[in-house]
Amino acid sequence: MQALPDQGGTGFDDVVLLPESASEIDFDEVSLDIEFFGYPLRSPVIINAMTGGTAQAYGINRRLASFARRHGLAMAVGSETAALEDREAIASYAVARETNPEGLIIANVGMGTDLARAQKAVDLIAANLLQVHWNTAQELFMAEGDRQFRGLIARFHEVAQRVSVPVIAKEVGQGMTGPVARRFVQLGAQGIDIGGMGGTNFIAVEAWRRGMVVDREWLRWGVPTAASLGEVIAEVEPWVTVVASGGIRSGHDVAKALAMGAHAVGVAGPLMRLAVAEEGGEALDQWLDTLHATLKMIMVLSGVRTVAELKQRPLVMTGRTREWLQQRGYRAFLETLGQRDRFPAPMVDAISEKS
Ligand SMILES: Cc1cc2nc3c(=O)[nH]c(=O)nc-3n(C[C@H](O)[C@H](O)[C@H](O)COP(=O)(O)O)c2cc1C
Repeated sequence: MQALPDQGGTGFDDVVLLPESASEIDFDEVSLDIEFFGYPLRSPVIINAMTGGTAQAYGINRRLASFARRHGLAMAVGSETAALEDREAIASYAVARETNPEGLIIANVGMGTDLARAQKAVDLIAANLLQVHWNTAQELFMAEGDRQFRGLIARFHEVAQRVSVPVIAKEVGQGMTGPVARRFVQLGAQGIDIGGMGGTNFIAVEAWRRGMVVDREWLRWGVPTAASLGEVIAEVEPWVTVVASGGIRSGHDVAKALAMGAHAVGVAGPLMRLAVAEEGGEALDQWLDTLHATLKMIMVLSGVRTVAELKQRPLVMTGRTREWLQQRGYRAFLETLGQRDRFPAPMVDAISEKS
């Protein structure tokens, strides 16, 4: 079979965090703790939805849940359709809760799931939150995928209003726009997972599974993660919780996403690759240690101790992402990001006092 073809990037290369040359922060005083829907977490990294339903998934979810418990991470399970249809499949999801009884666990269902099934998906794993994922592009590229999409919004509305836990509307790789995020919020979503383009791309994955050659245009179909995050933050923050996801791979990506305003970041593909291996536990720990070390170094160099302070740091947008956000009408947002550290009045006072 052919290798997965190249696709467009996340756009985070266009985002520059400004350093603080006069930083007086000690590395060890930097804290990565955050609050997510009121729950305390020891890292802004969320293990995003991936798997469940098979014997192999049982082992993977157990390894991921134990990784989540060791490091105080939130974890979403994969789509629970299998568990809703087959009792035998429940164990491969429930293992996430059994392994991490006190942890923040997120249930996951697909768009169009009705209220009763969504509530069952939550109850099966005593979930704290529910993700409802929207993956129209993936369905269209799957041979056996859905072709009928009418009525999905009404179902989502009912679930978001009535299910027992807060609901996150989640894209899975083609990127949400700001106005769509706003619409989900109006329907009752309390969180948005932007699922930007530039990471795992299900158009490419499904085409590859079918041995299809996919046009270059399809691999760039969607909103790159940095542009999607800019749009969504400008539209719906601070009313709801925003998760940046889609190609988040390093401490640099995490720092940029948080500074842009994300409350947390979601990572899937790289964790799956590590967790499938039997010795996955250690590899997962190493991956997170490296990411955290990079993020803490960036925080020292930015002169901040906490994630909340990182969100006050200035950043400059260049290139395609800047053009994108300007043309979409988010110019004021761009200027606010770029000028967060500028206090012209005290600076003028200081200079005039000296002379
Ligand atoms: C193997 C795999 C399975 C996934 N299954 C689901 C799923 O069941 N439900 C869902 O909402 N997202 C699913 N996703 C999407 C991820 O949660 C995430 O949105 C997407 O992969 C982008 O993040 P990444 O670039 O870090 O992989 C899956 C991703 C991978 C890699």
